[in-house]
Amino acid sequence: MAETKKIAVIAGDGIGPEVVAEAEKVLKRSEELFGYSFELSHGLFGGIAIDQKGTPLPQETLDLCKGADAVLLGAVGGPKWDDNPKELRPETGLLGIRKALGLFSNIRPAVVFDCLKDASTLKPEVLEGTDLIVVRELTGGIYFGDKFRRDGANGQEAVDTCVYNVSEVERIVRQAFEIARTRRKKLASVDKANVLETSRLWRETVNRIAPEYPDVELEHVLVDNCAMQLLRRPSSFDVIVTENMFGDILSDEAAMLTGSIGMLSSASLGEGSFGLYEPVHGSAPDIAGQGIANPIATILSVALMFRLTFGYADAADSIERAVKNVLDAGHRTGDIAVDRSKAIGTKAMGDLIVAAMTR
Ligand code: IPM
Ligand code: MG
Repeated sequence: MAETKKIAVIAGDGIGPEVVAEAEKVLKRSEELFGYSFELSHGLFGGIAIDQKGTPLPQETLDLCKGADAVLLGAVGGPKWDDNPKELRPETGLLGIRKALGLFSNIRPAVVFDCLKDASTLKPEVLEGTDLIVVRELTGGIYFGDKFRRDGANGQEAVDTCVYNVSEVERIVRQAFEIARTRRKKLASVDKANVLETSRLWRETVNRIAPEYPDVELEHVLVDNCAMQLLRRPSSFDVIVTENMFGDILSDEAAMLTGSIGMLSSASLGEGSFGLYEPVHGSAPDIAGQGIANPIATILSVALMFRLTFGYADAADSIERAVKNVLDAGHRTGDIAVDRSKAIGTKAMGDLIVAAMTR
């Protein structure tokens, strides 16, 4: 029997609990098939935590995460909390947990599944072979810089500051080079060095580190150009590394290449093997409680957890194979169905994937 791994499960709001329930079935099946052992503990996070505890990130949830080997997160947010003041917004909890757990690196793969090529708004021939990863810096930049209002000569002004120091850039860039090494060995570093000082420091740092990775082909791409190239030649990208806000925007764009945000998993990592894993999609309040959400992104987040935190490649392969087989057999949830009348629900999709898992 393998050592028991502790997983903190924070399902959150909207469809979060529905998709996480399916991912938990996959965890259980992985124990049966591969002899792994997981201890799950559940915590409140996001809107539900605001309602029940008066804060989006209760201390006990943070402690639960800190005591775990990995965190599985569903989704947070919803219209109910949209007009709340900043400290009582689910998004504040999300930024808080990233910072408190030191998760400076956000990894978002965007893979075009062959059988879903037609689900994208882009032409299939443009998408052919697209398999890229956005590595986004997650605990610095304009998200975390000083923010304030002040009285200016012409009335009220608002200020958001963007700060990066060399070590923050170094650690994320090194991680991106390392990831590129395990893939097609191409790294695109994205910045706005023609305008921003933080970007010039970013680029200098990348260039200083690059000689340590002579096997990786490096290109610098300005962020506006990158937004364009992602639509023009998506398959030519392998790993993209960029700062927090550019990464936020580009990873949404990359997700749309696949046509199905309901399919995309993500990992947020720090220095060690600890990681937080979540689907890229949000809490989808419009379909919450109906049992129709696509659980695949969350299920694939478990595969990513197995690979990156636990080193359980056999079980990760098993999950990814099962997802592919179920899709190849034509099963679809509503979000990826061509014929919506034939779409299956969240539980049915989860059950099919669990049944398709093999050693
Ligand atoms: C994301 C989201 C968050 C972000 C929001 C909800 C704060 O868009 O994870 O990409 O901007 O980081
Ligand atoms: Mg985003």
